[in-house]
Amino acid sequence: MEGKKVRMVTWKKLIMILIVAAVVYSFLPLIPFWFMGPAPKSDNNQTNIKRLEENKGAYFSFIVFGDNHNGLFTNDSSTLKLIWNMNREDRFRKVPIDFVLNVGDVTLDGSEWDFKAWKKMQKLIKYPVVAAIGNHDDRKLFEKYCGSLQFAFATRNSYFIIVDNEGGSPDFEWLEGELKKGKEYEHIFIAMHKPPFDPYQQEWYNMDNAPWAYNLRKMCAEYDVDIVFSGHKHMFKREEFDGVENICTGGGGMLIEIPESDGGYLHYIRVMVNNDYVTYEVRKISPPLWLHITYYLGKEALYWIRNWYGSGYIFGRNTKILEPKVKGLNDYEYWFDGVGHK
Ligand SMILES: [Fe+2]
Repeated sequence: MEGKKVRMVTWKKLIMILIVAAVVYSFLPLIPFWFMGPAPKSDNNQTNIKRLEENKGAYFSFIVFGDNHNGLFTNDSSTLKLIWNMNREDRFRKVPIDFVLNVGDVTLDGSEWDFKAWKKMQKLIKYPVVAAIGNHDDRKLFEKYCGSLQFAFATRNSYFIIVDNEGGSPDFEWLEGELKKGKEYEHIFIAMHKPPFDPYQQEWYNMDNAPWAYNLRKMCAEYDVDIVFSGHKHMFKREEFDGVENICTGGGGMLIEIPESDGGYLHYIRVMVNNDYVTYEVRKISPPLWLHITYYLGKEALYWIRNWYGSGYIFGRNTKILEPKVKGLNDYEYWFDGVGHK
């Protein structure tokens, strides 16, 4: 009997030690990260698109992610885990992975500290990195650390347009000019920060009802854009408008507040271009164990409790009808107000 008890205690202790060791281990990548230096400023958008010029052939891959919001240790820890996985994407040696595309909000809130954290991440990513600007990235510092804010480049059989829409509406005249150039290529891809649609309807972000978003969707259809990549919402969501694939990929590191079942999870996208075909995979990455325990389990538990509790049945019946915040949503003029494309 005594011997059995001792053995049980030893097993319990051993399991506890293993769990604690795994939690500590998941935190450790942050330590060398804090002490490493950033990538040089010359490792920026302009120089990296130059590195892609020589690539030949119509069979290639690239990776897309966004909203890593680096500069805060929780986000950095998650992005490090994403990068570890991205850097393994070429292990099957089937297809070259040309570069990594970021859809903006590379920094927590645009400070020098945040940009240096992002530049460290860039150094750790083994592929060239091209980034769009997000609304949290200071414009001047973005230019200093990441380079151009708005540009387009051709590589292999595709044309990539990186749009500056951190303020919302893009420069339609410039965009249409680039789309015309893009028609010379098999595929057109657009990367920008703010999605031209609502990735999540239970949210304040209301781009379904913005004329610029409508106009952009129509313009993308007219020029046969393959995929519009965006971020801003910290989640994965795909939608199709007039045959154009729209992917919101904002799960690059920022603490995610949306329920996992609705797309609120850490991830990146791996896209494969094979001549005239384009396919992609969503790579869902579980959070570092320490963050899983301290944040993500709690987030899911809160949604679970809210759904289970259903307080409205007891304390109120939610009978009040709320008006939309924007006036004139159903007026024809609201949609065709002369912004950019008709
Ligand atoms: Fe963001």
